[in-house]
Amino acid sequence: MPAMTDLGPVAWPPALIRTERLVLRESEARDRTAFIDLFASPQVRTHLGGARPREELERGMPAVPGLRTGVFVVERDGAMIGVVSFDRRDAQRPGHLRPEAGEAELSYMFLPQAWGSGYAAEACAAALGWLADACPGEPVVLCTQSANDRAMRLAEKLGFTEVERFEEYGAEQWFGVRSHVHPSDRAR
Ligand SMILES: CC(C)(COP(=O)(O)OP(=O)(O)OC[C@H]1O[C@@H](n2cnc3c(N)ncnc32)[C@H](O)[C@@H]1OP(=O)(O)O)[C@@H](O)C(=O)NCCC(=O)NCCS
Repeated sequence: MPAMTDLGPVAWPPALIRTERLVLRESEARDRTAFIDLFASPQVRTHLGGARPREELERGMPAVPGLRTGVFVVERDGAMIGVVSFDRRDAQRPGHLRPEAGEAELSYMFLPQAWGSGYAAEACAAALGWLADACPGEPVVLCTQSANDRAMRLAEKLGFTEVERFEEYGAEQWFGVRSHVHPSDRAR
């Protein structure tokens, strides 16, 4: 994963989060292959700068990938199917709610075989519930290419609304915020 600013001073690792069908937890060494599968997948990486060569990932991926505050591995029946993470949005990039930047930013990436079952929505709702407890009252932002239909549908389902659109990495980006308490936060 590229270098990112982690979420900051929150209690971490979190207690295991169970949803109806999934478990959210901190990353472990046994997740490494699934992380490589995510970054090597042309489908997953279509709107995220493209797939990376598997050999390069095998060599460069840390022993425990995604081991930082705010990164949840999502597990279904004991195996990793995706990752949901919160970072602090970098001030150098376009898309901000406030001049000092550093907004909590949600991102999600699931293995293609896990798409189309509502798992990403279920996991993100739980992670957003966690964030609402960890950082009370904080808005969450999200940025995705507007051409990324699945990511856009999910953002809307989770209660994100558009703040602005801008051009970055040669594509139109959609920048949204979820600032209110959403009904799914209470349904835990
Ligand atoms: C973005 C991404 C996570 C969305 O995954 P997803 O599976 O489409 O998202 P959801 O969990 O919301 O599932 C919605 C689909 O599940 C279906 N579904 C089936 N059972 C369901 C259930 N019990 N509950 C909800 N939805 C269900 C919905 O009908 C919908 O299907 P459709 O897309 O065919 O209409 C996934 O496409 C992905 O990993 N993309 C690559 C990474 C990426 O681009 N990330 C964005 C960067 S922020």
